[in-house]
Order: sequence, then C-alpha cells, then structure tokens
Amino acid sequence: MQTIGVIGAGQMGAGIAQVSAQAGYTVLLADVGRAQAEKGKAGIAKLLDRAVTKEKITGEARDAALGLIEPVDDVAAMGGCTLVIEAATEREAIKRQIFEQVGKVLGIDAVLASNTSSIPITRLAQASPDPARFVGVHFFNPVPVMGLIELIRGLATSDATVARVEAYAQTLGKRVVHANDAPGFIVNRVLMPLLNEACFALGEGVASIADIDAAVTLGLNHPMGPLTLADFVGLDTCLEITRVLFEGTGDPKFRPAPLLVKYVEAGWFGRKTGRGFYDYSGAEPVPTR
Ligand code: 3HC
Repeated sequence: MQTIGVIGAGQMGAGIAQVSAQAGYTVLLADVGRAQAEKGKAGIAKLLDRAVTKEKITGEARDAALGLIEPVDDVAAMGGCTLVIEAATEREAIKRQIFEQVGKVLGIDAVLASNTSSIPITRLAQASPDPARFVGVHFFNPVPVMGLIELIRGLATSDATVARVEAYAQTLGKRVVHANDAPGFIVNRVLMPLLNEACFALGEGVASIADIDAAVTLGLNHPMGPLTLADFVGLDTCLEITRVLFEGTGDPKFRPAPLLVKYVEAGWFGRKTGRGFYDYSGAEPVPTR
C-alpha cells in the first residue's frame, strides 16, 4: 500500500488522515510542529473509539488504522510518499510556503494535492514543484461522514495525475466528481449563495434564526439549516469563499450579506469561537436572535 502525506492536522487534515488509514494507507501526518500532529492523531483516536463503542468498527480495525498514522515533525519526512495532500489553513501565503518545503523532498513521480475550498488550482500550481503533478482534492466536513470528493484540475494538471488521485479517492469509498478550476468549484458555488441568502433573510427581518433553519431542514429535508451549517463551516470561511465567488465572477449576485460581514468583524465565527448565529456556551446551541 502507498504512503500518503497529509499536511495539516486540524479538522480536515485529521479527517483525511483517518479515512486514508481506514482504507489501509500508511499516513504521515504533519502540522506546524510534532505536538500539533500528535494532537490531530489523538482526535482521530477519540472518533475511532466512539465508532467502536457504537459497534460501527471493531477494536482491531481501530488499532490497525491508528497504527498506520504516524505524526511527523515536518514535511521533510514525506520524501517517500506517492501522494501528499495539503490541508493547511486556507491562506494562500501559508500554502505557498508549504509547497516550497514540499518541493525540496517530493518524489519525482509523486503527486501534490491541495484541499483548498476556494483558491484557484492553476494559481496554486505555480507555487508547486510541478504543475502537471498538482491537483485540487476537495473533501467535505466531517470527512469520515461525507461521501464526496471534488477533483479540480488546473490548466497544467496532467491526465495521469487526475487518474491517480481519482483511484486513491475511490479506495476511500467516496464518490468523485470532476470540476473545472472555476470559483467555488461545484459545491461551494451552490452552497455559499444558500448560506449567504439565509444571512440576507435574517438581516432583512424575514424570519428568526430558528425559523429560517427549521424552514430549510423540514421544508427541504436538509440535515442542517443554513445558519447552523454556516456556523459549522465557520462564518469567516463562508465570507472568504463568498468573496472569492464575488470577485472571481464579478457577478453582484454573489455579494456578501452585510450581516455576515458584521458577524465576522465581531469575531463571531460560529462553532469554533463559541458564538455565531447560535451561542454554543451551553449544552445545546441557542439562537442569538
Ligand atoms: N467526525 C466524524 N463523524 C462524525 C462527526 C465528525 N465530526 N460528526 C458526526 N459524525 C458521525 C456520527 O458519529 C454519526 O455516525 P453514525 O451514524 O455512524 O453513528 C453520524 O455522523 C451522524 O451524527 P449525529 O447523529 O451525531 O448527528 P446528525 O445526524 O445530526 O449528523 C452531520 C451530523 C453528519 C454533521 C449532519 O448534520 C450533516 O450531514 N450536516 C451537513 C454537513 C455538511 O453539509 N457538510 C459540508 C459542509 S461544506 C464543506 O465542508 C466544504 C467546505 O469547503 C466549506
């Protein structure tokens, strides 16, 4: 089985490491330091423990998956990986810096993929060691639960690179869709206008937070209402992607809702800061309006 490198041990990176190890890949997991990579692995252990308790997987399967995940000091350890997936913070400068470091060790046949949710693949490829072996591989949160991977090819991405990453994605049991390198790709192009529109509706006093979410969960059969989902994704992330759509297309239909901008300016980013459209300080989320 191949060895996969995952850079970034946060929610997305840890999820990617988990599903890869569960599919039998050896995974080298890196973050800004060894301690953060270890913390990512500890989070995976907790999720796998929960799956054992729920009798979704056996104790042996948990131990096997955990045994395949090796936290490492940095990307220098990834010279033997056939595929390296970057899932670091969604900041272009940080990703560029990582690609420069990866470029020093990446094997001659290895593929470098980015889990970016919004930065153009063709532009990122310019900072990668070889744009022909660079591709977007977009996972969804929570990675172990969501059944989709978007593959995004940049202008220079080769057919062989796409085929190799598609083969890997399929071994994870996920459905692969192919997207061109356009702002938001497929999912965020469709999702962000929904979340943004819910923010407009709330800001204009159309309905309360609880009623907007109930309307969409019960009226459209979505698992989460748009304001709950925006808090889950992170309001800062939603705003960033909406701006990418707005600036990338020049179409005013993507302009960010003023209320979304305000919440981000207030530092109310959703679940991760304990407050967004809901307050997460208690046992259950409470709508703030
Ligand atoms: N990690 C791993 N597993 C998780 C999890 C997590 N963070 N959160 C929930 N799960 C698992 C649970 O263990 C449970 O597993 P089981 O069925 O095997 O017991 C299952 O998911 C269902 O969880 P719960 O019963 O606790 O809760 P729900 O039924 O309410 O489901 C949800 C939770 C799966 C998050 C569901 O509400 C959902 O699908 N929400 C929509 C998520 C979504 O749209 N994600 C995409 C966001 S957009 C994105 O990621 C793109 C980016 O670029 C912005």
